[in-house]
Amino acid sequence: MSEDLGFVHRFEPGDGSGVTLLLLHGTGGDENDLIPLGSEILPGAALLSPRGKTLEHGAPRFFRRLAEGVFDHEDLLLRTHELAGFIEAAMKQYELDPAKLVAAGYSNGANIAASLTLLHPGLLRAAVLFRAMVPFEPETTPDLAGMPVFIAAGRRDQMIPPDNTERLAETLREAGADVDLRWRDIGHGLTYEEVMEAKGWLAEIPPLR
Ligand code: MLT
Repeated sequence: MSEDLGFVHRFEPGDGSGVTLLLLHGTGGDENDLIPLGSEILPGAALLSPRGKTLEHGAPRFFRRLAEGVFDHEDLLLRTHELAGFIEAAMKQYELDPAKLVAAGYSNGANIAASLTLLHPGLLRAAVLFRAMVPFEPETTPDLAGMPVFIAAGRRDQMIPPDNTERLAETLREAGADVDLRWRDIGHGLTYEEVMEAKGWLAEIPPLR
């Protein structure tokens, strides 16, 4: 664990391929949560895993919310820019290739990954979003031409209405992203099968292969 660069985070060096996986945990998680998932879905990648800086009754998150599924827009924008600054600083500090940065997030972490994608186009080479929602409606359409985005969603998710995830996919597609939205008849919890699906999907992305 390191507290450098403004975020408590974990960094695990990769095998030298230059690919980095940014891991973004869900509400109540921390920098350790997704390390096993990261090593599974993108073997050999360096892992950069920050802890969200907002606390909700002691539970770390990446931005504040006013209620379940209702986000504090101002805080979301501020935290997204702050996280982007951390990522850029970490890429320099650990001498990572900024062209090979992929994000994987779950729930609140998927939402900040979607926000990073919309507010900082070009920062992420690709994104894996497990249980994501529309973080905010962008005022101007970012240029996400050709950016591969994998979204894994649950039809029985109690926290995320299916049309919200569909709207996120649509927003990203309108911006030019190459979105692969996969539905399963499951709830908010992540399943092994979809982790394996994400792994297969990532294995097909040049130049990560
Ligand atoms: C959020 O607040 O980002 C979503 O409601 C999902 C979550 O609770 O983490």
